[in-house]
Amino acid sequence: QAEDLHDRFGRRISYLRVSLTEHCNLRCRYCSPEKGTPRFARKDHLAPAELDQLLSVFRSLGVRHMRFTGGEPLLYPWLCDRIAHARSLGIEKLSVSTNGYLLDRLAGALAAAGLKRLNVSLDSLVPERFARITRGGDVNRVLRGLFIARESIPHIKLNAVLLKDENFDEIPALVDFALAEGFDIQFIETMPLGIAGSTSRADSYVSVAEAEARIARTHALIARPRAPDDGPSRRFGVAGFANAIGFISPISQNFCAGCNRVRLTSTGRLVYCLGQDDGVDLLAPLRAGLTPKALADLIRDKVWHEKPERHTFNDEPGRAAPVYMMRLGG
Ligand code: GTP
Ligand code: 5AD
Ligand code: SF4
Repeated sequence: QAEDLHDRFGRRISYLRVSLTEHCNLRCRYCSPEKGTPRFARKDHLAPAELDQLLSVFRSLGVRHMRFTGGEPLLYPWLCDRIAHARSLGIEKLSVSTNGYLLDRLAGALAAAGLKRLNVSLDSLVPERFARITRGGDVNRVLRGLFIARESIPHIKLNAVLLKDENFDEIPALVDFALAEGFDIQFIETMPLGIAGSTSRADSYVSVAEAEARIARTHALIARPRAPDDGPSRRFGVAGFANAIGFISPISQNFCAGCNRVRLTSTGRLVYCLGQDDGVDLLAPLRAGLTPKALADLIRDKVWHEKPERHTFNDEPGRAAPVYMMRLGG
């Protein structure tokens, strides 16, 4: 329909990823500078009611799929209310991406608010390695959270960023863990995002083709058909197991032609692509009293004219895209 969100490249935008806070309780090497990122001023954050208004506007533009990210979204005090609001809008597919650190305490409340899908980062099962990758994190705390969460949240997916010297040899063990415990798992190529202070990722990069080959030595991977709403992950099954093994290849096999998403920061900036900093501020117009209809028109116009065809990670190897992963939530 004409009222829905589209871009100039024939793509329908039906998915909004919302960063609820830039704050995080871990400092993963591939995501965060050692000291974290500068915090936004409190007055610049969307208030919960303002965020709800924007979510409603996106729903009116045909968005049917939302994900809450961060930073760490479980540090956002009003997460359950936002989940309930998104559900009340009729969002069909709603999920949260978390590092899992607070799941032991919060999983039950998230489920009670209506959450059915959760992505949890898990780059290694080996405590020393996990601590190195996350600069001090405790893998047992994540595992405890995962086991509690699966009691009440039916669809849980593990995210493992591929890191040459940190977890490449552990890929089969991660797959076995996921299949045995009833989680989906996906392996992700590390992306060069971040401003000064982030560590370089060129040295740790491994392609998904290498990961796939490593898994194929011990598991026969059976390709799964793509569903209409699928994101960039290419998914496989293994005989005898219901769960999926996925691969996300931003660097080695570009998937931007199928892009269906835009991003909203915790300060109300709409960002058109993960690989660029281009965006439009929605907070000031909202506070200036623009009507939902006027906001929808602004968003529709901006997405149409400004969403780029693709990311440019590969154009200048070694150069990081000038965005903080911690602010955009992946
Ligand atoms: P959906 O199934 O599409 O909701 O995504 P997901 O389950 O893969 O989401 P998640 O938040 O767990 O992200 C997994 C990885 O995919 C992260 O490293 C993201 O940065 C990456 N990713 C998600 N969407 C995009 C995208 O549009 N472009 C790129 N380059 N990477 C993405
Ligand atoms: N490259 C690829 N994935 C990343 N993530 C964070 N930083 C990067 C990066 N530089 C992942 C996290 C989390 C997901 C939302 O994004 O591991 O699982
Ligand atoms: Fe879409 Fe940009 Fe991600 Fe490509 S990199 S899939 S264009 S958000």
